Amino acid sequence: MAAPPVPPRHVAIVMDGNGRWAQRRFLPRLAGHKQGVESLRRCVRACAQRGIGVLTVFAFSSENWNRPAEEVSGLMELLAKALTREVPQLSQEGVRLHFVGARAGLSDKVRAGLELAQSQTAHNTRLVLNVCFNYGGRWDIAQAAAQLAARGVPITEESLDRALALAHVPDPDLLIRTGGEMRLSNFLLWQAAYAELYFSERLWPDFDEAALDEALAAYHARERRFGQTSEQVQACA
Ligand code: FPP
Repeated sequence: MAAPPVPPRHVAIVMDGNGRWAQRRFLPRLAGHKQGVESLRRCVRACAQRGIGVLTVFAFSSENWNRPAEEVSGLMELLAKALTREVPQLSQEGVRLHFVGARAGLSDKVRAGLELAQSQTAHNTRLVLNVCFNYGGRWDIAQAAAQLAARGVPITEESLDRALALAHVPDPDLLIRTGGEMRLSNFLLWQAAYAELYFSERLWPDFDEAALDEALAAYHARERRFGQTSEQVQACA
């Protein structure tokens, strides 16, 4: 019998489509984001069950500040509440939380909540959940370069890689975007260099275990070549 395929070590997700999910139900956009939190909880559990070691999600981009003030404050509130409500359960399930993004611009309450959630889950080893919040790929590359320049370290691919906000995990193998759009929107610009891209028509609140399994099946059907020829890859298999 053939061995089961090795799961991707790292899956990254642009959780798009919350607003449309809500609008289709004549609900405020924030109701879609709330449902998005439910979907995220389900996805974290499903990834852990499938042996995926790292999940990175895009929860709030550097550009999301441009949304209506009510939606921005609603998302901040949602994060604060989700932290209080979800962290004990996530921790019990072996999830280590890591918040990736600029702390500047966040309220003291949100900032303290992020730091506490990180320290409370720091000992967990089953799955690393990176929540990109107030994050942009360009911000990350610029902050890494600035760090190196301030320390007088020459900028190389390796030094920059180590200074990036996701230096604690391997690069994503699979990058999923829900909601039917086909773009990166400033997510993991550096780290996604060799990620397999998968676009789903499903809106994020509807992205369930079956949808995740479809994405994983598509991933397993790909040949990852990392610049080599197909023949070279086959010879090493
Ligand atoms: C994009 O959908 C989604 C976001 C900007 C927010 C993503 C946040 C969550 C899934 C909730 C998890 C959040 C926290 C706080 C942990 P959209 O609003 O752009 O949807 P649309 O394209 O249909 O308008």
